[in-house]
Amino acid sequence: MKQTERPIAVFDSGVGGISVLRELVRLMPNENYIFFGDSKNAPYGGKSLEEVRKLTECHVRHLLSEGAKAVVIACNTATSADVSILRKEYPDVPVVGIEPALKPAVLQSKSKVVAVLATPATFRGKLIQDVVQNFALPAQVSVLAATSLALVPFVEHGQQLSAECLTVLHDILNPVVTQGADYLVLGCTHYPFLKDAIQVLFADQLTLIDSGFAVARQTARILIKHELLCEEQCKRPHVQLNCYVSGQNAETLRSVVARLIDPAFTWDIQNIAM
Ligand code: DGL
Repeated sequence: MKQTERPIAVFDSGVGGISVLRELVRLMPNENYIFFGDSKNAPYGGKSLEEVRKLTECHVRHLLSEGAKAVVIACNTATSADVSILRKEYPDVPVVGIEPALKPAVLQSKSKVVAVLATPATFRGKLIQDVVQNFALPAQVSVLAATSLALVPFVEHGQQLSAECLTVLHDILNPVVTQGADYLVLGCTHYPFLKDAIQVLFADQLTLIDSGFAVARQTARILIKHELLCEEQCKRPHVQLNCYVSGQNAETLRSVVARLIDPAFTWDIQNIAM
Protein backbone atom coordinates (compact mmCIF):
# COMPACT_ATOMS: atom_id res chain seq x y z
CA MET A 1 0.00 0.00 0.00
CA LYS A 2 1.28 3.46 -0.88
CA GLN A 3 2.15 5.69 2.05
CA THR A 4 -0.63 8.13 1.10
CA GLU A 5 -3.27 5.38 1.04
CA ARG A 6 -2.72 4.43 4.66
CA PRO A 7 -5.64 5.48 6.88
CA ILE A 8 -6.03 8.56 9.02
CA ALA A 9 -6.73 7.43 12.60
CA VAL A 10 -9.40 9.34 14.50
CA PHE A 11 -9.67 8.82 18.24
CA ASP A 12 -12.25 9.85 20.82
CA SER A 13 -13.42 8.70 24.22
CA GLY A 14 -16.65 7.59 22.51
CA VAL A 15 -18.97 8.33 19.60
CA GLY A 16 -18.51 12.12 19.90
CA GLY A 17 -15.45 12.01 17.63
CA ILE A 18 -17.80 11.16 14.77
CA SER A 19 -18.67 14.89 14.74
CA VAL A 20 -15.06 15.55 13.71
CA LEU A 21 -14.78 12.48 11.52
CA ARG A 22 -17.71 13.58 9.35
CA GLU A 23 -16.00 16.94 8.70
CA LEU A 24 -12.78 15.12 7.78
CA VAL A 25 -14.67 12.82 5.42
CA ARG A 26 -16.49 15.75 3.78
CA LEU A 27 -13.28 17.69 3.26
CA MET A 28 -11.12 14.71 2.23
CA PRO A 29 -13.37 12.00 0.74
CA ASN A 30 -10.44 10.24 -0.95
CA GLU A 31 -8.88 9.24 2.35
CA ASN A 32 -9.23 6.02 4.34
CA TYR A 33 -10.19 6.36 7.98
CA ILE A 34 -10.03 4.22 11.10
CA PHE A 35 -12.11 5.55 13.95
CA PHE A 36 -11.76 4.37 17.52
CA GLY A 37 -14.29 5.51 20.10
CA ASP A 38 -13.54 4.23 23.59
CA SER A 39 -17.18 4.02 24.68
CA LYS A 40 -16.26 1.36 27.19
CA ASN A 41 -14.33 3.92 29.24
CA ALA A 42 -16.37 7.06 28.44
CA PRO A 43 -16.82 9.60 29.81
CA TYR A 44 -13.18 10.69 30.08
CA GLY A 45 -14.32 14.06 31.41
CA GLY A 46 -14.50 12.86 35.03
CA LYS A 47 -11.15 11.07 35.03
CA SER A 48 -7.78 12.40 36.17
CA LEU A 49 -5.48 13.76 33.45
CA GLU A 50 -3.16 10.82 34.20
CA GLU A 51 -5.94 8.28 33.51
CA VAL A 52 -6.95 10.08 30.31
CA ARG A 53 -3.31 10.05 29.22
CA LYS A 54 -2.91 6.30 29.83
CA LEU A 55 -6.07 5.42 27.88
CA THR A 56 -5.25 7.78 25.01
CA GLU A 57 -1.70 6.48 24.66
CA CYS A 58 -2.87 2.86 24.68
CA HIS A 59 -5.45 3.49 21.92
CA VAL A 60 -3.15 5.65 19.79
CA ARG A 61 -0.52 2.89 19.95
CA HIS A 62 -3.13 0.44 18.74
CA LEU A 63 -4.24 2.72 15.88
CA LEU A 64 -0.65 3.25 14.75
CA SER A 65 -0.07 -0.49 14.79
CA GLU A 66 -2.94 -0.70 12.26
CA GLY A 67 -0.82 1.40 9.89
CA ALA A 68 -2.28 4.89 10.39
CA LYS A 69 -0.34 7.67 8.62
CA ALA A 70 -1.65 10.42 10.92
CA VAL A 71 -3.66 10.67 14.12
CA VAL A 72 -6.50 13.07 14.88
CA ILE A 73 -7.31 13.29 18.58
CA ALA A 74 -11.00 14.15 18.14
CA CYS A 75 -11.43 14.71 21.86
CA ASN A 76 -10.83 18.01 23.67
CA THR A 77 -10.28 16.18 26.96
CA ALA A 78 -7.60 13.85 25.55
CA THR A 79 -5.98 16.67 23.57
CA SER A 80 -5.71 18.77 26.66
CA ALA A 81 -4.23 15.88 28.70
CA ASP A 82 -1.95 14.35 26.12
CA VAL A 83 -1.34 15.91 22.73
CA SER A 84 2.09 17.38 23.48
CA ILE A 85 3.26 14.08 25.00
CA LEU A 86 2.06 12.13 21.94
CA ARG A 87 3.88 14.50 19.61
CA LYS A 88 7.11 13.89 21.52
CA GLU A 89 6.54 10.15 21.54
CA TYR A 90 5.80 9.94 17.79
CA PRO A 91 7.89 12.70 16.19
CA ASP A 92 7.42 11.23 12.69
CA VAL A 93 3.63 10.97 12.83
CA PRO A 94 1.42 14.04 12.32
CA VAL A 95 -0.79 14.32 15.42
CA VAL A 96 -3.67 16.80 15.22
CA GLY A 97 -5.55 17.83 18.37
CA ILE A 98 -8.71 19.80 19.02
CA GLU A 99 -9.36 22.82 21.20
CA PRO A 100 -12.48 24.89 21.89
CA ALA A 101 -13.21 27.41 19.09
CA LEU A 102 -13.07 30.42 21.35
CA LYS A 103 -11.50 32.81 18.84
CA PRO A 104 -14.37 32.98 16.30
CA ALA A 105 -16.88 33.19 19.15
CA VAL A 106 -15.06 36.12 20.74
CA LEU A 107 -14.74 37.90 17.40
CA GLN A 108 -18.42 37.51 16.55
CA SER A 109 -20.03 37.95 19.96
CA LYS A 110 -22.08 41.14 20.25
CA SER A 111 -22.59 40.97 24.01
CA LYS A 112 -18.87 40.15 24.51
CA VAL A 113 -19.94 37.42 26.89
CA VAL A 114 -19.03 33.98 25.57
CA ALA A 115 -19.68 30.64 27.26
CA VAL A 116 -17.57 27.50 26.83
CA LEU A 117 -19.22 24.14 27.42
CA ALA A 118 -16.55 21.47 28.07
CA THR A 119 -15.83 18.54 30.33
CA PRO A 120 -14.46 19.00 33.87
CA ALA A 121 -11.13 17.39 32.80
CA THR A 122 -10.78 19.84 29.90
CA PHE A 123 -11.25 22.73 32.32
CA ARG A 124 -8.56 21.22 34.58
CA GLY A 125 -6.04 21.06 31.71
CA LYS A 126 -3.65 23.88 30.86
CA LEU A 127 -4.70 24.04 27.21
CA ILE A 128 -8.03 25.74 27.93
CA GLN A 129 -6.29 28.38 30.05
CA ASP A 130 -3.92 29.06 27.15
CA VAL A 131 -6.84 29.26 24.71
CA VAL A 132 -8.68 31.71 26.98
CA GLN A 133 -5.52 33.78 27.45
CA ASN A 134 -4.72 33.86 23.74
CA PHE A 135 -8.15 34.54 22.35
CA ALA A 136 -10.39 36.09 24.98
CA LEU A 137 -9.01 39.65 24.94
CA PRO A 138 -9.26 39.74 28.77
CA ALA A 139 -10.35 43.33 29.27
CA GLN A 140 -13.09 43.16 26.67
CA VAL A 141 -14.64 39.70 26.81
CA SER A 142 -16.01 37.58 29.64
CA VAL A 143 -15.62 33.85 29.24
CA LEU A 144 -18.06 31.77 31.27
CA ALA A 145 -17.40 28.10 31.95
CA ALA A 146 -20.24 25.59 31.75
CA THR A 147 -19.59 21.96 32.56
CA SER A 148 -21.30 18.70 33.36
CA LEU A 149 -20.45 15.02 33.41
CA ALA A 150 -24.05 14.11 32.65
CA LEU A 151 -24.17 15.15 28.97
CA VAL A 152 -21.83 12.67 27.28
CA PRO A 153 -23.84 9.55 28.31
CA PHE A 154 -26.96 11.00 26.62
CA VAL A 155 -25.04 11.18 23.33
CA GLU A 156 -23.46 7.75 23.86
CA HIS A 157 -26.94 6.27 24.24
CA GLY A 158 -28.67 8.30 21.54
CA GLN A 159 -30.89 10.15 24.06
CA GLN A 160 -30.08 13.74 23.13
CA LEU A 161 -33.70 14.83 22.85
CA SER A 162 -34.96 13.04 25.96
CA ALA A 163 -36.70 15.06 28.68
CA GLU A 164 -33.80 14.25 31.07
CA CYS A 165 -31.21 15.57 28.65
CA LEU A 166 -33.19 18.77 28.03
CA THR A 167 -33.48 19.32 31.79
CA VAL A 168 -29.72 18.87 32.33
CA LEU A 169 -28.94 21.21 29.43
CA HIS A 170 -31.36 23.82 30.70
CA ASP A 171 -29.82 23.72 34.18
CA ILE A 172 -26.29 24.14 32.81
CA LEU A 173 -26.96 26.75 30.16
CA ASN A 174 -29.65 28.92 31.71
CA PRO A 175 -27.15 30.59 34.11
CA VAL A 176 -24.80 31.61 31.25
CA VAL A 177 -27.69 32.91 29.14
CA THR A 178 -28.90 34.90 32.15
CA GLN A 179 -25.40 36.36 32.47
CA GLY A 180 -25.59 37.62 28.89
CA ALA A 181 -23.74 34.98 26.84
CA ASP A 182 -24.75 35.13 23.17
CA TYR A 183 -22.20 32.56 21.86
CA LEU A 184 -21.71 29.03 23.14
CA VAL A 185 -18.48 27.27 22.26
CA LEU A 186 -18.97 23.50 22.12
CA GLY A 187 -15.69 22.39 23.70
CA CYS A 188 -16.34 18.65 23.59
CA THR A 189 -16.80 16.61 20.44
CA HIS A 190 -19.93 14.95 21.80
CA TYR A 191 -21.71 18.29 22.05
CA PRO A 192 -22.32 19.02 18.33
CA PHE A 193 -24.77 16.13 18.62
CA LEU A 194 -26.65 18.21 21.23
CA LYS A 195 -27.19 21.13 18.85
CA ASP A 196 -30.86 20.30 18.19
CA ALA A 197 -31.54 19.97 21.91
CA ILE A 198 -29.80 23.29 22.68
CA GLN A 199 -31.74 24.93 19.89
CA VAL A 200 -35.02 23.64 21.28
CA LEU A 201 -34.18 25.40 24.55
CA PHE A 202 -32.27 28.53 23.54
CA ALA A 203 -32.89 28.98 19.82
CA ASP A 204 -32.77 32.77 19.70
CA GLN A 205 -30.36 33.33 22.53
CA LEU A 206 -27.25 31.26 21.75
CA THR A 207 -25.19 30.88 18.59
CA LEU A 208 -23.28 27.60 18.66
CA ILE A 209 -19.72 27.11 17.44
CA ASP A 210 -17.66 23.92 17.30
CA SER A 211 -14.18 23.06 16.04
CA GLY A 212 -14.92 20.11 13.73
CA PHE A 213 -14.32 21.89 10.42
CA ALA A 214 -11.25 23.74 11.73
CA VAL A 215 -9.70 20.40 12.73
CA ALA A 216 -10.45 18.91 9.30
CA ARG A 217 -8.81 21.92 7.61
CA GLN A 218 -5.78 21.72 9.88
CA THR A 219 -5.46 17.97 9.18
CA ALA A 220 -5.52 18.63 5.43
CA ARG A 221 -2.82 21.31 5.81
CA ILE A 222 -0.59 18.98 7.80
CA LEU A 223 -1.06 16.09 5.36
CA ILE A 224 -0.12 18.37 2.46
CA LYS A 225 2.95 19.57 4.34
CA HIS A 226 4.06 15.97 4.97
CA GLU A 227 3.15 14.92 1.40
CA LEU A 228 0.68 12.41 2.84
CA LEU A 229 -2.55 13.57 1.21
CA CYS A 230 -4.25 10.85 -0.83
CA GLU A 231 -4.85 12.28 -4.28
CA GLU A 232 -6.15 9.22 -6.08
CA GLN A 233 -9.36 11.01 -7.05
CA CYS A 234 -12.40 9.00 -8.14
CA LYS A 235 -10.67 5.76 -7.27
CA ARG A 236 -13.16 5.20 -4.51
CA PRO A 237 -16.67 6.51 -5.11
CA HIS A 238 -17.57 6.01 -1.45
CA VAL A 239 -15.61 6.44 1.72
CA GLN A 240 -15.03 3.23 3.61
CA LEU A 241 -14.88 3.75 7.31
CA ASN A 242 -13.98 1.21 9.94
CA CYS A 243 -15.68 2.34 13.08
CA TYR A 244 -14.44 0.53 16.12
CA VAL A 245 -16.34 1.33 19.27
CA SER A 246 -15.88 -0.77 22.35
CA GLY A 247 -18.06 -1.34 25.35
CA GLN A 248 -21.63 -1.28 24.04
CA ASN A 249 -23.53 -4.08 22.51
CA ALA A 250 -23.24 -4.07 18.75
CA GLU A 251 -26.92 -3.42 18.04
CA THR A 252 -27.24 -0.38 20.32
CA LEU A 253 -24.01 0.95 18.94
CA ARG A 254 -25.05 0.42 15.34
CA SER A 255 -28.31 2.34 15.78
CA VAL A 256 -26.65 5.18 17.74
CA VAL A 257 -23.85 5.51 15.18
CA ALA A 258 -26.24 5.21 12.24
CA ARG A 259 -28.05 8.32 13.45
CA LEU A 260 -24.80 10.29 13.82
CA ILE A 261 -23.13 9.58 10.51
CA ASP A 262 -23.60 11.18 7.12
CA PRO A 263 -25.68 8.86 4.91
CA ALA A 264 -24.02 10.31 1.80
CA PHE A 265 -20.99 8.10 2.47
CA THR A 266 -20.52 4.37 2.92
CA TRP A 267 -19.57 3.50 6.46
CA ASP A 268 -18.39 0.10 7.56
CA ILE A 269 -19.31 -0.01 11.24
CA GLN A 270 -17.58 -2.55 13.42
CA ASN A 271 -17.63 -3.21 17.12
CA ILE A 272 -14.68 -4.53 19.04
CA ALA A 273 -14.58 -5.60 22.63
CA MET A 274 -11.43 -4.44 24.40
N1 DGL B 1 -15.54 13.88 23.46
C1 DGL B 1 -14.68 14.26 24.52
C2 DGL B 1 -14.20 15.70 24.37
O1 DGL B 1 -14.16 16.24 23.28
C3 DGL B 1 -15.03 14.01 25.94
C4 DGL B 1 -16.19 13.20 26.32
C5 DGL B 1 -15.93 12.45 27.60
O2 DGL B 1 -16.06 13.02 28.70
O3 DGL B 1 -15.58 11.29 27.45
O4 DGL B 1 -13.82 16.32 25.33
